[in-house]
Amino acid sequence: MATPEALAFDVYGTLVDPIGIAAELERHAGDAARRIAETWRQKQLEYTFRLSVMERYEDFEWVTHRSLHHALAVAGLELSAGAVDELMASYDRLERFADVAEGLDRLHAAGHTLAILSNGTPRMLERVSLNAGLRPPIEDIVSVDEVRVYKPSPRVYLHAAERLRRPVEEVRLVSSNPFDVIGAEAAGMRAAWIDRSGNGLFDTLAEPPRMVVRTLVELADELDRAAA
Ligand code: 2OP
Repeated sequence: MATPEALAFDVYGTLVDPIGIAAELERHAGDAARRIAETWRQKQLEYTFRLSVMERYEDFEWVTHRSLHHALAVAGLELSAGAVDELMASYDRLERFADVAEGLDRLHAAGHTLAILSNGTPRMLERVSLNAGLRPPIEDIVSVDEVRVYKPSPRVYLHAAERLRRPVEEVRLVSSNPFDVIGAEAAGMRAAWIDRSGNGLFDTLAEPPRMVVRTLVELADELDRAAA
């Protein structure tokens, strides 16, 4: 019987859907909303990579705010400060994916330790995890803000293992983001890729991990099989 694992869950794109913010954007942008949401997400991640390479740190609230302004400027959309504040507030109310509640309950019932490991700030993660009904069963929140560098820096994953009081090789990063999965494995963590698009398109920087599933329910099934 394999021992229960320590599972570290990525949040944005894995547990909640950042593209779902398009619904909020529709009031201002009509059918350009989805494209703006996608530009916003891409720029948000790009800023995290660039800040880390520059060895500078600004928190994920700052990055999310600045990348929103970029996405609006690219779309030629000028919103009032109030409308921008409302969009930022709705980032704390992103919806969880349909499989998340059942998947987390299954994983918790199987005895796994469930934690969050995310670029989000502690405040953002407190809010989004409570609003999305993730805690319980998720017990602990690890934010990159604690080490002031973003994923996929190995410092993030090594710090998370320390916080979870497990050897890094006994922690499994669960993420839909290939850069996150590759970063975790490079730091010595196990990983599971949640292929939410279902098209198997991982990334050409490295091979996919051995564990590839499409939902957290499938992840629970996989781990049950490994434990049998
Ligand atoms: C997260 O850290 C990668 O944004 C994603 O939750």
